[in-house]
Amino acid sequence: VSSYLIRPAHPEETPAVLRLWRLAGAHPSHTDDEQSIGSLIARDPQALLIAVDGEQLVGSLIAGFDGWRGSLFRLVVLPERRRSGIGRALVAEGELSPRERGAIRITLYAIREETEALDFWRAVGYERDERLVRFVKDLDLAASAG
Ligand SMILES: CC(C)(COP(=O)(O)OP(=O)(O)OC[C@H]1O[C@@H](n2cnc3c(N)ncnc32)[C@H](O)[C@@H]1OP(=O)(O)O)[C@@H](O)C(=O)NCCC(=O)NCCS
Repeated sequence: VSSYLIRPAHPEETPAVLRLWRLAGAHPSHTDDEQSIGSLIARDPQALLIAVDGEQLVGSLIAGFDGWRGSLFRLVVLPERRRSGIGRALVAEGELSPRERGAIRITLYAIREETEALDFWRAVGYERDERLVRFVKDLDLAASAG
């Protein structure tokens, strides 16, 4: 039987969150570091949700609202705890705060080849938007610091 609770992560849990992402094989992202997670929690203490079973972190989700759209990032469940509803519960919880703050739509990015993740998002009520292409630009930190 799966027992866990979902709550916002505390700043001191940042190393455990990074460890979960590594253990769960989450795609490395530019902001997988203590400083980035610390500034996320400082800006929005509700944004980083974790699923916790006793002392163990078993899942995570970043759910934010930028004043325009709700966004989800870093949905990760520990491999040995998958298919027991933790992902679904994290998403349900993550939708609450953007909704309360006025979001009417929530978006997220998924990797095209990761068909299991795509199946998950469909199962929890998200629709694939075929009209869109993602554009990114990496800001040159060295240049702006100089
Ligand atoms: C995607 C992920 C978060 C799902 O977490 P989870 O806790 O296993 O999901 P749930 O148990 O809540 O699943 C809810 C429903 O989603 C669907 N689903 C979940 N995993 C699935 C899979 N591997 N294949 C097909 N459907 C799946 C099922 O319909 C499932 O309901 P069911 O178990 O009653 O059939 C987890 O597999 C994971 O951490 N994957 C690696 C990271 C990742 O891909 N994250 C998403 C990035 S966009």
